Amino acid sequence: MENYDQLIQSAMVEIDSSNSIELLENIRIKYFGKNGIVSQELKKISKLNDEKKRKIGKELNEFKSTFFKNVELKKVRIRKQEISEQLKKESIDISLPPRSSSFIEAKIHPITQTTNEIVSILGSMGLSYEEGPDVEDDFHNFTALNIPKNHPARQMHDTFYVGEKNEGLVLRTHTSPVQIRTLMNKTLPLRIFAPGRTYRCDSDITHTPMFHQVEGLVVEEGVTFANLKWFLEKFCKIFFNNDDINLRFRPSYFPFTEPSAEVDINCKVESGKIHLGEGDSWMEILGCGMVHPNVFKMSLGEKNMNTNGFAFGMGIERLAMLKYGMPDLRNFFESDLRWLRHYGFSFFETTDLSWR
Ligand code: DAH
Repeated sequence: MENYDQLIQSAMVEIDSSNSIELLENIRIKYFGKNGIVSQELKKISKLNDEKKRKIGKELNEFKSTFFKNVELKKVRIRKQEISEQLKKESIDISLPPRSSSFIEAKIHPITQTTNEIVSILGSMGLSYEEGPDVEDDFHNFTALNIPKNHPARQMHDTFYVGEKNEGLVLRTHTSPVQIRTLMNKTLPLRIFAPGRTYRCDSDITHTPMFHQVEGLVVEEGVTFANLKWFLEKFCKIFFNNDDINLRFRPSYFPFTEPSAEVDINCKVESGKIHLGEGDSWMEILGCGMVHPNVFKMSLGEKNMNTNGFAFGMGIERLAMLKYGMPDLRNFFESDLRWLRHYGFSFFETTDLSWR
């Protein structure tokens, strides 16, 4: 064999493609074993003349050193590979298993979501947060709100009594008692709102025994019904994210306000869906009015009867149903997870307060 180039090349390919120490050993035997290809060639050298001996001897020696250098390199690589495979096999995964695919993202209940939105908006309009107890006394829930004993308005409230009726404790029938608590405990001027649970002994398509309201109260010199109108219109436009909404103030009666009004927003109903801010139907959304002098008299004393203020109260369920299109009030409190998954909100939804 005169030209060893091809031989060297195929030996290199064999070394490179072998993937175990045994295979490498077989390749070594194939070329440099007793009867290996190169060993045979070396044997032939003695029969050659001096010049050829030197030339071929040199070539074969180079072949040998390249061959063994590559074998060693390959051995190192194979050992590294074997160690890392071994480590992989022996390693223990101490991390917790991932949640299975049946994991369900938690959702925010529409009442919580709507309350948070209302809190953000009223807060951004300059009102501060107040709260009162769910179990109220007769004075705060009725008397101080100009609903004295035997007043027919008490019948309208379907009150839950706590303990004996004559003990005078009730589950608050509205959030309006927070008006009294703040008037009695804070100093004027006042700009507050108070969201919370309310209770009435009533249950049908549009009533649940427990529901939610937000109360609003602004008491400061010179406040007028016009301010109230502007305020509520602004609130509705922000809350429903709709500048086309029109409000209608209908004269009404609440014992704690004079004059009183119920507020409707315009809408149209098309194939069972309500479109707000369109059409000429009206949907009631809240009650409001100018605080009755008797309320100031009972909470602040005789000399404050001419104080000015406006108040409003709205049902959170109703606002949620109108904004998010839930058709049946009763579903809100049935704890049906399918309903909550459908109507619930993600944790990261924020209220748009860009109106500021
Ligand atoms: N408290 C009333 C209710 O539950 C709602 C209400 C009406 C509150 C007028 C007010 C108001 O503050 O001014 O039906």
